[in-house]
Amino acid sequence: MSRFWSPIVHTLTPYVPGEQPRMAGLVKLNTNENPYPPSPKVLAAIAAETGDGLRLYPDPVSLKLRTAIGALHDVDPSEVFVGNGSDEVLAHAFMGLFSHDRPLLFPDITYSFYPVYCGLYGVRHVTVPLDDAMQVGVDDYRQPAGAIILPNPNAPTGSALPLAEIERLVSEHPDAVVAIDEAYVDFGGESAIPLVKRYPNLLVIHTLSKSRSLAGLRVGFAIGQRPLIEALERVKDSFNSYPLDRLAAAGATAAIEDAAWFDETRGKVMASRARLTSELEAMGFVVLPSAANFVFARHPEHAGAELAGKLRERAIIVRHFNKPRIEDYLRITIGTDDECRRLTEALREIV
Ligand SMILES: Cc1ncc(COP(=O)(O)O)c(C=O)c1O
Repeated sequence: MSRFWSPIVHTLTPYVPGEQPRMAGLVKLNTNENPYPPSPKVLAAIAAETGDGLRLYPDPVSLKLRTAIGALHDVDPSEVFVGNGSDEVLAHAFMGLFSHDRPLLFPDITYSFYPVYCGLYGVRHVTVPLDDAMQVGVDDYRQPAGAIILPNPNAPTGSALPLAEIERLVSEHPDAVVAIDEAYVDFGGESAIPLVKRYPNLLVIHTLSKSRSLAGLRVGFAIGQRPLIEALERVKDSFNSYPLDRLAAAGATAAIEDAAWFDETRGKVMASRARLTSELEAMGFVVLPSAANFVFARHPEHAGAELAGKLRERAIIVRHFNKPRIEDYLRITIGTDDECRRLTEALREIV
């Protein structure tokens, strides 16, 4: 607290990211990073960009990257917005598209940055409970909505809605922006991007942090029809003209263009997820169906905090949320097969 703060700062409840400890031998399964390195083509592109060119500002509209994303997803570059991580893209959407007389709707159990942005930008919101199976029910969103946001697959549950359900949600709310946060979609979900051509109220948000192994580069993007993208551009150009530096733009473009690396690494993650899920189930864990690079699991005889604490004693960190409905779950990022083996060995000892 300080008398120097603007009044709004007193009211904020900032997001707390998963910790990033620096410990030798740590098995870090807490922030849904990809266990495999970025494509060698990404590293080469970044290296090629480090030179005298850094004297100069980058392209404020990252046209080369937006063109690569547009080619990949069959949309015009003008329908692509890029930002400094999808968190920044989301922040601009909260400010530029979600603040209306009617409330923003999102699930009660979801990405915990959403209520933080609501606090920052004064967006009134209503949370819609997941059903008893911890799934999003599209019918539950039949209520007054200024806008809707949901991750698909949802976080931290990992569960995905089929595309037909997403389309139903978008078509049932023609007067509200429906934003689908597809941070994890590349690990087995169905993307709503092909619907963008038909629905002017649909915005789809992606990140390169997960399936492209680039959490450290900070690049995310949104795809939508021009009026939605223009709102994001207006907010961005009132905040920071250069959200992507030269290295980020070059690395991200190479990542988007390297389909082979993307398919190989996400394939490995999905195969490890299937193995880890069956091993956890064999130990008595209840594991929610996951289409993401993590699983959400609980053990009927052990509290979540206890399990997370005992794993930590063994230098294995997973994410535990001290929140009603999910306090007994662990969110476990899919690591390399060796990391998954260390995790299951430790859990076998504990349970
Ligand atoms: C659902 C969801 N959306 C967005 C993000 C933000 O990703 P980034 O800012 O790294 O692009 C995350 C990060 O964990 C997430 O879980």
